[in-house]
Amino acid sequence: MDLFVVRGSTPLSGEITVAGAKNVALKAFVTALLTDSEVTLGNIPHIGDVVAMGEVIKSLGATVDITSHTARIHTPKKLVSRVPLELGARLRASSLVVGPLLARVGNAMIPNPGGCRIGARPIDRHIQGLIRMGAHIRYHSEDGYFHAQAPDGLHGVTFEFPKNTHTGTETLILAAVLAEGTTVLKNAAEEVEIDDLIGLLSAMGAHIRRSGAREITIDGVPSLHGARYSIAPDRNEEVTFAIAAAITNGSVVVHASQPKALDAFMTPVLAAGGGIQMIDAHTTRYFRKRALVAGDIMTAPYPGFMTDWQAPWAVLMTQARGVSTVHETVFESRFSYVQELQKMGAKIAFYDPAVTNPEAFYNFNWGDRVNGHHQGIRITGPTTLHNAILDITDLRAGATLLLAALVAEGESFVHGVAHVDRGYEHIEDRLRALGAHIKRIKEGDI
Ligand code: UD1
Repeated sequence: MDLFVVRGSTPLSGEITVAGAKNVALKAFVTALLTDSEVTLGNIPHIGDVVAMGEVIKSLGATVDITSHTARIHTPKKLVSRVPLELGARLRASSLVVGPLLARVGNAMIPNPGGCRIGARPIDRHIQGLIRMGAHIRYHSEDGYFHAQAPDGLHGVTFEFPKNTHTGTETLILAAVLAEGTTVLKNAAEEVEIDDLIGLLSAMGAHIRRSGAREITIDGVPSLHGARYSIAPDRNEEVTFAIAAAITNGSVVVHASQPKALDAFMTPVLAAGGGIQMIDAHTTRYFRKRALVAGDIMTAPYPGFMTDWQAPWAVLMTQARGVSTVHETVFESRFSYVQELQKMGAKIAFYDPAVTNPEAFYNFNWGDRVNGHHQGIRITGPTTLHNAILDITDLRAGATLLLAALVAEGESFVHGVAHVDRGYEHIEDRLRALGAHIKRIKEGDI
């Protein structure tokens, strides 16, 4: 196991290019299973989750050849229909293969999905939609697998998601592209990453359109062909670098920037005293314009303030004057980083936001919450953070603790870096290029 040693209090300055989006790359790999022609994907990030998804589709029979940032994927006519348990446990998005397997093989065995431990994260909404499309699906607790069958293929339906689901929307799109007839997904998620997936599928010959507010229409086609497609940059990475600049009082020019997809982030950052200069359509400079002041945010599905941004935002607010609040509404357990920030001297307290109808209001299933967990935190700032020995427990929390260590006084030791490697490409090299004092060492080398 590796760990990061970080010496803080240095302003980060320079230029950086955002890598390809994790949450598109993973889905693009699965999409390649829908054809036996070659799919060539550009701008693929070198991250742990992409390697794991490569293993998943290889276990089903695909060949994956990654050179530089290009992945060439070829899938044979005959596919294996069972995802190995240990791979499914590593990667939640592996459940997406169910659609392509049902379309091409007529059956699928997918493990109960793993991935970041940020709540129960069931896939009941995906399963409901697949059953409506004609799949027979049973969960077998004795082997830990969902057993899915559609021997006569899937058929188009109108399906309304009971609540928003990003991966659920993608699961049903991937199931519908080769289904018989037309599928209309209502209350479908609107994340920009889904539009990129639609772009890839369209390049492969699928017929998909956003037909209304939160509505996607898919006309099934008999087969798809190969394609070359370059995936979009990762807006979550951009947020991490933006906060790194503001928090350390530096200045970071971000290339492959996506300001249009970051509106909900930029508005509160500007109000809190952050500086944002649009240099051109794909280049943005982030800095601190004035002394930071407290601001309140509530996470929400797109186009709201994304749940992945609340942890880095909380670190920013430790440096802001006043009391800020974060209300997490998408996941029921996404404050694992708070305890670590408290070790560094952050003044953060949990609270229960007043919500009249929590069952309907929250994006997660209200019954999944764990007693004693809270959906809100109050941060009192500014605080001078100090060094600590930190433990990372999930991907965004990991990036958050690195940000905190970068602004803290003294030298911090950050354990659990594998979580950061799952979603950030060579993060320490890129932060070092901006002036950060960070090195990766082996656990035994302290
Ligand atoms: C995806 C992203 C993640 C991002 C999130 C919100 C990937 C690989 N991950 O996660 O980075 O933070 O969207 O944009 O793209 N839920 C259920 N039942 C379901 C489906 C979801 O209860 O069938 C709950 C989840 O537990 C969660 C909430 O609904 O509390 C939202 O889930 P969803 O939008 O599906 O997020 P993910 O796809 O898991």
